[in-house]
Amino acid sequence: MLCYKRREDIVRFLKIVKAQGKKLGFVPTMGALHDGHMSLIAKSKSENDLTICSVFVNPTQFNHQEDFDKYPISTTDDLLKLNHNACDIVFLPEMIDIYPNGTKNTKLPSLGKITSVLEGAHRPGHFDGVAQVVGLLLDIVQPDHLYMGQKDYQQALVVQKLLEVEKRHNTALVVCPTQREADGLAMSSRNIRLSEEQRTHALGLSKALFYIKSNYKLCSNEQLIEHVSQLLREIPELKLEYVSIASQAQLEPLTSSETHEAAVALVAAWVGNVRLIDNILL
Ligand code: PAF
Repeated sequence: MLCYKRREDIVRFLKIVKAQGKKLGFVPTMGALHDGHMSLIAKSKSENDLTICSVFVNPTQFNHQEDFDKYPISTTDDLLKLNHNACDIVFLPEMIDIYPNGTKNTKLPSLGKITSVLEGAHRPGHFDGVAQVVGLLLDIVQPDHLYMGQKDYQQALVVQKLLEVEKRHNTALVVCPTQREADGLAMSSRNIRLSEEQRTHALGLSKALFYIKSNYKLCSNEQLIEHVSQLLREIPELKLEYVSIASQAQLEPLTSSETHEAAVALVAAWVGNVRLIDNILL
């Protein structure tokens, strides 16, 4: 596995590789890698000649300094996992490589309503930071395919919008299914911050989504949301932010299950001081 730290070095190397007509798959991450990330690496490897994974904890997408400070860093372990899963190239940039002019001097794309609902409403500015860093990483890597997990459903919609609006990247987004632990918990880098007890409480999120999926169209969407919200509110240490049944395309709330629009159920909650999100296609 090749490991690049400096922007100019990876750019030089990728120029040569691209001139050879090789297809590039890119998996951007913030590290603390788990099997969910490895499923993205595997998918990329099956569809490209070379797979690149970046590990960069992007400060501009955190709303709380504390969340940024506590974000798990496990670079040695990440490199071992990537090597074990035969990732071809890892990019470990420093701040200066991503933000040579500082974080404030990059123009933010205007992506409309998709950045301000649900996650956007609870984490103002979060998607500006995501769109900013993904755009900058794509400028460097210029991949043919970009791989992201469905666990961050809204993030994938935002990035799709970014690609459509900016048109500066010749990259196709591939969204891969959420990977779950055997008991249903969606894999997330944040899970390692949960105590054993909190981890049991966190299972409420996936259980709520599975309940909605099993009962979708049997009850009204309001009833489903009301019922699971009530159950989630009874779980100790769990602070619910939202449960929503929304259109898959725009995340518009769907109040009626009569609609023929494809729907997704989404949930966000704090368990202790760890914020978790999950979703399921209906
Ligand atoms: O999903 C993530 O890990 C991050 O939001 C991403 C896409 C790597 C941007 O920092």
